[in-house]
Amino acid sequence: MSINRRTALGAVTATGAGALSACGGEEQQPREPGGKDGELRLPTSDVPEGGGVVRERVVVTQPRSGTFEAFDATCPHQGCAVDEVTEKAIVCPCHGSEFDPTDGSVTHGPAEKGLTRMKATVKGDEVVVS
Ligand code: FES
Repeated sequence: MSINRRTALGAVTATGAGALSACGGEEQQPREPGGKDGELRLPTSDVPEGGGVVRERVVVTQPRSGTFEAFDATCPHQGCAVDEVTEKAIVCPCHGSEFDPTDGSVTHGPAEKGLTRMKATVKGDEVVVS
């Protein structure tokens, strides 16, 4: 019996030893962005103007006052979760790719394509991402 990468990673996870990513050992969260029903709600006040937050594998940014954008946090390079949002970039910790907080496009490789955009709608004092 041969053991491929998927089998090996599944065995590590099944033993409770923790999930190791393909990017150097960072712990990864479950893959589905936005929670069980695919929708994420958070107070608009949780998203700093000129910055953003990462919740449940979703990046929510507010590049301009009252304008919210959302992206799947999965880095298109090798699948790590981006974890930092600055005024100028959404940053992947694994190999340093950076993405534009306004549209998710790549601003610094090694990623060759941008983050997957999600729909962000303001309802009252919440941002609803679907
Ligand atoms: S997984 Fe390599 S830069 Fe994000």
